[in-house]
Amino acid sequence: MAEITQTPMKGAVREAMEAQVGNEFHAAYLYLSMAGSFEVANFPGFAHWMRSQAKEEVEHATKFFDFLIERGESVQLPAIPAPTGSFRSPLDAFEQSLAHEKKVTAQINDIYAHAVRENDYPAQVLLHWYIEEQVEEEASASQIVERLRMAGDDPTALLMLDSEMKSR
Ligand SMILES: [Fe+2]
Ligand SMILES: [Fe+2]
Repeated sequence: MAEITQTPMKGAVREAMEAQVGNEFHAAYLYLSMAGSFEVANFPGFAHWMRSQAKEEVEHATKFFDFLIERGESVQLPAIPAPTGSFRSPLDAFEQSLAHEKKVTAQINDIYAHAVRENDYPAQVLLHWYIEEQVEEEASASQIVERLRMAGDDPTALLMLDSEMKSR
Protein backbone atom coordinates (compact mmCIF):
# COMPACT_ATOMS: atom_id res chain seq x y z
CA MET A 1 0.00 0.00 0.00
CA ALA A 2 1.29 3.48 -0.80
CA GLU A 3 2.56 5.54 2.10
CA ILE A 4 0.01 8.22 2.91
CA THR A 5 2.03 10.31 5.33
CA GLN A 6 4.33 11.72 2.64
CA THR A 7 4.70 15.43 2.16
CA PRO A 8 2.37 16.18 -0.75
CA MET A 9 4.02 17.13 -4.01
CA LYS A 10 3.52 20.59 -5.42
CA GLY A 11 1.57 21.24 -8.59
CA ALA A 12 4.04 21.83 -11.41
CA VAL A 13 6.45 18.96 -10.80
CA ARG A 14 3.61 16.53 -10.13
CA GLU A 15 1.77 17.51 -13.31
CA ALA A 16 4.93 17.44 -15.43
CA MET A 17 5.84 13.98 -14.15
CA GLU A 18 2.37 12.69 -14.87
CA ALA A 19 2.60 14.05 -18.41
CA GLN A 20 6.06 12.49 -18.74
CA VAL A 21 4.58 9.02 -18.08
CA GLY A 22 2.66 9.59 -21.32
CA ASN A 23 5.71 11.02 -23.12
CA GLU A 24 7.79 7.95 -22.25
CA PHE A 25 5.02 5.63 -23.47
CA HIS A 26 4.81 7.72 -26.64
CA ALA A 27 8.55 7.15 -27.15
CA ALA A 28 7.96 3.40 -26.64
CA TYR A 29 5.23 3.56 -29.31
CA LEU A 30 7.55 5.34 -31.72
CA TYR A 31 10.34 2.78 -31.26
CA LEU A 32 7.96 -0.17 -31.47
CA SER A 33 6.53 1.16 -34.71
CA MET A 34 10.06 1.62 -36.09
CA ALA A 35 10.87 -1.97 -35.01
CA GLY A 36 7.92 -3.17 -37.08
CA SER A 37 9.02 -1.24 -40.14
CA PHE A 38 12.56 -2.60 -39.83
CA GLU A 39 11.21 -6.17 -39.57
CA VAL A 40 9.22 -5.60 -42.76
CA ALA A 41 12.30 -4.14 -44.49
CA ASN A 42 14.40 -7.20 -43.50
CA PHE A 43 16.70 -5.45 -41.06
CA PRO A 44 16.34 -7.76 -38.02
CA GLY A 45 19.25 -6.13 -36.17
CA PHE A 46 17.86 -2.59 -36.34
CA ALA A 47 14.44 -4.04 -35.44
CA HIS A 48 15.97 -5.69 -32.37
CA TRP A 49 17.60 -2.41 -31.30
CA MET A 50 14.30 -0.55 -31.64
CA ARG A 51 12.41 -3.23 -29.74
CA SER A 52 14.88 -3.13 -26.82
CA GLN A 53 14.61 0.66 -26.88
CA ALA A 54 10.80 0.43 -26.71
CA LYS A 55 11.08 -1.82 -23.62
CA GLU A 56 13.41 0.67 -21.94
CA GLU A 57 10.95 3.50 -22.57
CA VAL A 58 8.18 1.50 -20.87
CA GLU A 59 10.55 1.14 -17.88
CA HIS A 60 11.14 4.91 -17.88
CA ALA A 61 7.38 5.52 -17.86
CA THR A 62 6.83 3.02 -15.05
CA LYS A 63 9.61 4.53 -12.93
CA PHE A 64 7.85 7.92 -12.94
CA PHE A 65 4.50 6.24 -12.31
CA ASP A 66 5.88 4.29 -9.33
CA PHE A 67 7.51 7.41 -7.89
CA LEU A 68 4.21 9.33 -7.99
CA ILE A 69 2.40 6.45 -6.30
CA GLU A 70 5.13 6.18 -3.64
CA ARG A 71 4.72 9.86 -2.92
CA GLY A 72 1.05 9.22 -2.25
CA GLU A 73 -0.18 10.93 -5.45
CA SER A 74 -3.01 9.58 -7.54
CA VAL A 75 -2.03 9.30 -11.20
CA GLN A 76 -4.30 10.29 -14.06
CA LEU A 77 -2.66 8.64 -17.06
CA PRO A 78 -2.69 10.86 -20.18
CA ALA A 79 -3.68 9.70 -23.69
CA ILE A 80 -0.80 8.43 -25.83
CA PRO A 81 -0.71 9.92 -29.33
CA ALA A 82 -0.12 7.55 -32.26
CA PRO A 83 3.49 7.48 -33.50
CA THR A 84 4.33 8.95 -36.90
CA GLY A 85 6.45 5.89 -37.63
CA SER A 86 7.25 6.29 -41.32
CA PHE A 87 10.83 6.70 -42.52
CA ARG A 88 12.70 6.49 -45.80
CA SER A 89 15.87 4.69 -44.72
CA PRO A 90 17.67 3.37 -41.63
CA LEU A 91 19.51 6.70 -41.43
CA ASP A 92 16.22 8.61 -41.49
CA ALA A 93 14.82 6.38 -38.71
CA PHE A 94 17.84 6.89 -36.46
CA GLU A 95 17.91 10.62 -37.17
CA GLN A 96 14.27 10.75 -36.05
CA SER A 97 15.17 8.72 -32.93
CA LEU A 98 17.98 11.12 -32.08
CA ALA A 99 15.69 14.13 -32.58
CA HIS A 100 13.13 12.46 -30.35
CA GLU A 101 15.68 11.80 -27.60
CA LYS A 102 16.71 15.47 -27.70
CA LYS A 103 13.08 16.41 -27.20
CA VAL A 104 12.84 14.04 -24.23
CA THR A 105 16.03 15.52 -22.75
CA ALA A 106 14.39 18.96 -22.88
CA GLN A 107 11.26 17.55 -21.18
CA ILE A 108 13.35 15.97 -18.39
CA ASN A 109 15.32 19.20 -17.88
CA ASP A 110 12.05 21.06 -17.67
CA ILE A 111 10.73 18.76 -14.93
CA TYR A 112 14.02 19.19 -13.10
CA ALA A 113 13.63 22.97 -13.23
CA HIS A 114 10.16 22.60 -11.65
CA ALA A 115 11.60 20.30 -8.96
CA VAL A 116 14.25 22.91 -8.12
CA ARG A 117 11.70 25.74 -8.04
CA GLU A 118 9.39 23.73 -5.78
CA ASN A 119 12.25 22.49 -3.53
CA ASP A 120 11.25 18.90 -4.23
CA TYR A 121 14.47 17.10 -3.25
CA PRO A 122 13.28 13.49 -3.75
CA ALA A 123 12.11 14.44 -7.27
CA GLN A 124 15.53 15.96 -7.96
CA VAL A 125 17.25 12.74 -6.88
CA LEU A 126 14.99 10.69 -9.15
CA LEU A 127 15.55 13.09 -12.04
CA HIS A 128 19.34 12.80 -11.74
CA TRP A 129 18.91 9.23 -12.96
CA TYR A 130 16.93 10.42 -16.00
CA ILE A 131 19.41 13.20 -16.75
CA GLU A 132 22.25 10.67 -16.90
CA GLU A 133 20.11 8.24 -18.88
CA GLN A 134 19.40 10.92 -21.51
CA VAL A 135 23.12 11.53 -22.01
CA GLU A 136 23.48 7.81 -22.79
CA GLU A 137 20.36 7.73 -24.97
CA GLU A 138 21.54 10.65 -27.10
CA ALA A 139 25.06 9.25 -27.33
CA SER A 140 23.97 5.81 -28.53
CA ALA A 141 21.47 7.16 -31.10
CA SER A 142 24.02 9.67 -32.32
CA GLN A 143 26.73 7.00 -32.71
CA ILE A 144 24.42 4.94 -34.91
CA VAL A 145 23.49 8.02 -36.97
CA GLU A 146 27.20 8.73 -37.56
CA ARG A 147 27.92 5.14 -38.57
CA LEU A 148 24.91 5.04 -40.90
CA ARG A 149 26.22 8.23 -42.52
CA MET A 150 29.56 6.50 -43.11
CA ALA A 151 27.78 3.46 -44.58
CA GLY A 152 25.83 5.67 -46.98
CA ASP A 153 24.07 3.61 -49.65
CA ASP A 154 26.53 0.71 -49.51
CA PRO A 155 24.36 -2.41 -48.94
CA THR A 156 27.27 -4.44 -47.53
CA ALA A 157 28.04 -1.79 -44.93
CA LEU A 158 24.33 -1.48 -44.03
CA LEU A 159 23.96 -5.24 -43.59
CA MET A 160 27.08 -5.34 -41.41
CA LEU A 161 25.71 -2.60 -39.16
CA ASP A 162 22.36 -4.36 -39.01
CA SER A 163 24.05 -7.58 -38.00
CA GLU A 164 25.99 -5.76 -35.26
CA MET A 165 22.78 -4.36 -33.78
CA LYS A 166 21.48 -7.86 -33.09
CA SER A 167 23.80 -8.17 -30.11
CA ARG A 168 22.59 -5.08 -28.30
FE1 LIG B 1 12.93 7.56 -21.95
FE1 LIG C 1 14.81 7.30 -24.68
